[in-house]
Amino acid sequence: MTKISKLMSSEDDRINYLDHAATTPVRAEVLEKMLPYFTEKFGNPSSLYALAGEARYGLDEAREQVASVLSAHPGEIVFTGGGSESNNTAIKGVANARPQGSFGRGHIVTTAIEHHAVIHPVEQLEKLGYAATYVGVDEHGLVDPEEVAAAITGDTFLVSVMMVNNEVGTVQNISKISERVRDAAASAGGDVVIHTDAVQAAGKLSLDVNDLGVDLMSLSGHKIYGPKGVGVLFVRRGVELDPLIAGGGQERQRRSGTENVPSIVGMGEAMMLIEAERPTSRLRMQTLSNMLIEGISERIPDSKFNGHYIKRVPEIVNFSFSGVEGEPVLLGLDFKGVAASSGSACSSASLEPSHVLLAMGVSPDVAVGSVRISMGRETTVDDIDDVLMALPQVIKHLGSFPTF
Ligand SMILES: Cc1ncc(COP(=O)(O)O)c(C=O)c1O
Repeated sequence: MTKISKLMSSEDDRINYLDHAATTPVRAEVLEKMLPYFTEKFGNPSSLYALAGEARYGLDEAREQVASVLSAHPGEIVFTGGGSESNNTAIKGVANARPQGSFGRGHIVTTAIEHHAVIHPVEQLEKLGYAATYVGVDEHGLVDPEEVAAAITGDTFLVSVMMVNNEVGTVQNISKISERVRDAAASAGGDVVIHTDAVQAAGKLSLDVNDLGVDLMSLSGHKIYGPKGVGVLFVRRGVELDPLIAGGGQERQRRSGTENVPSIVGMGEAMMLIEAERPTSRLRMQTLSNMLIEGISERIPDSKFNGHYIKRVPEIVNFSFSGVEGEPVLLGLDFKGVAASSGSACSSASLEPSHVLLAMGVSPDVAVGSVRISMGRETTVDDIDDVLMALPQVIKHLGSFPTF
């Protein structure tokens, strides 16, 4: 059982938290680093006196921390209000910064399995007259770099492909996609900005923006044991971007508003810590993940693993169970002290099948029976054993496999 249990009153009440792709608890070291910025170091970083200098120092340090993880320059790091804001700023900011006269014109290439924080802003731009192509995926949720390249036209100004899918954990070959997109753009005579939503990749994969060949990258604090409501947008030097939020000109004119210093300090610290743990956590997560996938497949005959067996992050495991809906499964698991999810948190309350699973060719009636289990740094073998006990009981109770 997880350390989150410390917050609960008795041992028996502890929750087995397996929804780390939805959010993570702020780790103690991060909270400790943040706390002085609420009280004694409360100054506005834009002011000139010494108190403000302390806040400014906190901001600068966080910017350097994030930049070092991304192999970027600190001036290329923009702090935002979260992953959704980073994605919106990337997409709308690039569209709005295009030369005068091109408003409402131009083409965006993205994929059918992006988070809604990418799909919805692209749809908003479509309503304004922009064209968009949503490249499909194979049955494992994998995007073919050649298909992305083939979608590029002379009008394409933006490509946005996520690094790790939040529902099934499939990892895209971003460096290959970037390489092929740049070749295709050069042949088509256009100039393309490449964005990746790396919200679910942080702490799991290398975020080196040069190896990945991207111009823009979105990150979020609360997926990496940092606070909610803070994010990062990496903006490669030279990329033209109009701010989504205009005002006092903070973040080098790219995101106005007095900086959320405590959260930014927390984001920087969380990035450093999770990156340092990455090599060791990978092996542990792989072991837990294999245990979970094998266990579910063996114990629940009608289960279907959703995702890619190799090109995936081990932390995210997604299964469909035919004949049941995700919501009652989650309620049943909750009753047994296991917190999991059905796809992404924002759509988990709806009975609509996941757009990601549909894009992977899963039939709607099977897709509504999907459950996402996402592990984190506090997850133990015992936690996996527990869910392997609880899940078959819940599915049996809901009538999926009567011979159990
Ligand atoms: C892939 C992906 N992108 C973007 C977001 C949005 O991030 P935030 O909650 O910080 O706005 C999420 C959160 O679920 C996500 O999983």
